[in-house]
Amino acid sequence: MHGGTDRESNRRRRDIRQLKTAKGGIRVLIKKSADIRSNEITPKEVYLNRRRFMAAAGTAGAALVAGKYLRNLITPELLAQAGTRLEYTRSDLSTQGEKLTPLDDITTYNNFYEFGTDKEDPSRNAGGLKTAPWTITIEGLVKRRASFDVDSIVKMHPSLEERIYRLRCVEAWSMVIPWVGIPLSSVIKTVEPASKARFVAFETLYDPKQMPGQRRSVLQWPYVEGLRMDEAMHPLTILAVGLYGESLPNQDGAPIRLVVPWKYGFKSIKSIVKIKFVEKQPPTTWNIMAPQEYGFYSNVNPEVDHPRWSQAKERRIGEFFKRSTLMFNGYGDQVAGLYAGMDLRKNF
Ligand code: MTE
Repeated sequence: MHGGTDRESNRRRRDIRQLKTAKGGIRVLIKKSADIRSNEITPKEVYLNRRRFMAAAGTAGAALVAGKYLRNLITPELLAQAGTRLEYTRSDLSTQGEKLTPLDDITTYNNFYEFGTDKEDPSRNAGGLKTAPWTITIEGLVKRRASFDVDSIVKMHPSLEERIYRLRCVEAWSMVIPWVGIPLSSVIKTVEPASKARFVAFETLYDPKQMPGQRRSVLQWPYVEGLRMDEAMHPLTILAVGLYGESLPNQDGAPIRLVVPWKYGFKSIKSIVKIKFVEKQPPTTWNIMAPQEYGFYSNVNPEVDHPRWSQAKERRIGEFFKRSTLMFNGYGDQVAGLYAGMDLRKNF
């Protein structure tokens, strides 16, 4: 996996950049892209067979057979991550003709600081998160203010849809992920926001007992994000409850997360417990931490560099050579109109 040897861990630790904000004192941790593996692609079938094999062999047996490498792989958390199969329809809005990132990478190379700041921490530490029952509160400027369980949120749309999207992280790596979810617009229409509601704010669970990363002030907790109402209503914006046809693994934001494919990955907030309709632009976590580095909009834009990383190119996980980053992550035809007349350098 991505963890492994002490030498690798030390290298990763070295790679973590520490940044003082203008006010000083706040440590912002987003890693450089140097630690991205370029190892082999694992098709889903191979991955699942390996999981079945490991389950059958058991920790001790497998460790005897394959030594330290497999021993590191087989954790109770990993075995607990097997998802529930979901029924879904395919969607015309899926990205066509791009190779899917293997499930193995999507579920072991994560950013989910509630479970640690190393890429492999979420897959190691999120196994204990209790995702059922799970309640989402919808509040603010809406007619139907209420608490809903995840199932009733999902039922706000006739069926689950598969949406294959590129995910582009501001750290300059990317993946192609077959999400399963519903359009956020379905939820918004059902709860009937007031005309004064111009933004939607989202909040992740705050529970340091279950989320060990929240015991340290790496970020200001809970993680919060926001969208302008027209962005939230856009057909590409979804609430995902699964990937690769199964319910979301905890490390990917179970049981329900946002996915906004034309924005940097940090906008796609995980494990959501609150959705609030508001009049003013809501605070967002990375913007709170380093406002000069992370804007509210955070649309993927190869022409506007992050102060520490060029955004012109990206490394697709599993590929060796870098590829050019596309404006709006390649979704410009569908979303550029949302920003007509806006200066995208100022509104980064
Ligand atoms: N949501 C929460 N609650 N906490 C986080 O640390 N990380 C963000 C985003 N959502 C994050 C989060 C970042 S930086 C990215 S790139 C994506 O989740 C990564 O999603 P993935 O791990 O499923 O690839």
